[in-house]
Amino acid sequence: MSRDAFYITTAIDYVNAEPHMGHAYEKVGADAMARYQRLRGKDVRFTIGTDEHGQKVAESAAALGLEPQQHVDRIAGRFQEAWKQLEISHDDFIRTTQPRHHKSVAELFTRVQSAGDLYLGDYVGWYCKFEETFWPETKLEQGNCPTCNRPVQKITERNWFFKLSKYTEPLKRHFQSNPEFILPVARRQEMMNILEEGLEDLSISRSTFQWGIPFPGHPGHVVYVWFDALINYITSAGFPDDAPSLARYWPADYHVIGKDIAKFHTIIWPAMLLSAGLPLPAHVFIHGFVLTPTGKMSKSLGNVIAPGEMAGKYGADALRYTLLREIAWGQDGVVSEEILVNRYNRDLANDLGNLLHRIGTQIQKHFGGVVPPVAEGSSGPLESELQQASCEASRAAAAGYEAFAFHQALEGAWGLVRAANQYVDRAEPWKWAAGKWGDGLRLETPPAAEQARARLGTVLSVGS
Ligand code: MSP
Repeated sequence: MSRDAFYITTAIDYVNAEPHMGHAYEKVGADAMARYQRLRGKDVRFTIGTDEHGQKVAESAAALGLEPQQHVDRIAGRFQEAWKQLEISHDDFIRTTQPRHHKSVAELFTRVQSAGDLYLGDYVGWYCKFEETFWPETKLEQGNCPTCNRPVQKITERNWFFKLSKYTEPLKRHFQSNPEFILPVARRQEMMNILEEGLEDLSISRSTFQWGIPFPGHPGHVVYVWFDALINYITSAGFPDDAPSLARYWPADYHVIGKDIAKFHTIIWPAMLLSAGLPLPAHVFIHGFVLTPTGKMSKSLGNVIAPGEMAGKYGADALRYTLLREIAWGQDGVVSEEILVNRYNRDLANDLGNLLHRIGTQIQKHFGGVVPPVAEGSSGPLESELQQASCEASRAAAAGYEAFAFHQALEGAWGLVRAANQYVDRAEPWKWAAGKWGDGLRLETPPAAEQARARLGTVLSVGS
């Protein structure tokens, strides 16, 4: 990949539910990083999208009396609408039902097959008729379905398998020689433990439902939804036909995902890429979960916050700021309307809004709305201090962004907002505007009108 390119992706969201704050949190974080890299002059490719196959999606469609395609078109539209409301700056919105993705999946299969990594075998699972779901033995609760607690039936299905076990050792080596492959590094050990236990081969075809990508060369079977979904990351980069784009953007710099899907991204996806002879992404960044003050968000508890609604009510910036400022990226954190309102009032209105208001109204009043020039020789120690605060803020913000520590980047930036407010307090532009001494000076004879105006211009210019 060329050095000036930067490819960042988020998980592609399931379309069996409406967009919620957890989805928004991930997209806003990745968006902040994409924007930061663009500011650094990188040629950024930022991909988000929707994961549209699988049994659950088929079931949601059936429950609504819709064809799966109709259903996914509608929900994918809802996601696109929400991201527009949140001003997400993605370059690509990939949908796994798109022909470009089907083609990419077929090509990846050809490669994995040529590597000798596919075979037909018996998948043994526990089937819950009521939930229409297969469970591995490890997920059962006292021998029953973990969702509805009803008895399950042992089912054997002839399926295609991917030789995931073959990649246990290569992955261990990759983890060891790339200690920052999984970020934050605190998450790495958990994945290493899975490798230490040894990997089992993965069943990657399904024949109990049909809403999926047809399994190449095996009518009646569809590709397991995860095996299909992960491939979106290379589809978006141009696989298999757009070689220049692929060379430019692949391997990705960052896959940004939530902690519940870490194994898919740090073990299964890399194994698929190794099998297909493709390079691995540089980093997988695993973020924490957005919780509500009453705990996990869930439809049944009625505490799901719709991000589009919140952005409509308070503005995209207020929501984006709260999501990035309130939670240390990588950890779980709580977001609610009340928290947003507090952040809005305290940080955005009092600190930033107040600064803009103080400076803006005076520029409007005294300089016809045009930022005046800094008068020669009228800068002093107050300006030097602010300049220093500005350098520190920019260093802290950059360090925060580089480390995916958005709360720290914003805290750093707010150092400048606070310093600029103090600067205005101390420089007292309203006094200079009234033809009096500002800057804390208390001299008997008033300053010359020209001097006062020059100083006023400098303060308003520096403050803005
Ligand atoms: N479709 C899969 C991902 C396939 S990627 C090849 C999926 N979809 S999801 O809709 O369930 O989740 C999408 C992303 O949102 C995941 O990264 C998930 O971790 C994240 N979140 C879902 N709920 C969340 C919170 N409450 N908080 C933060 N992120 C969470 O998994």
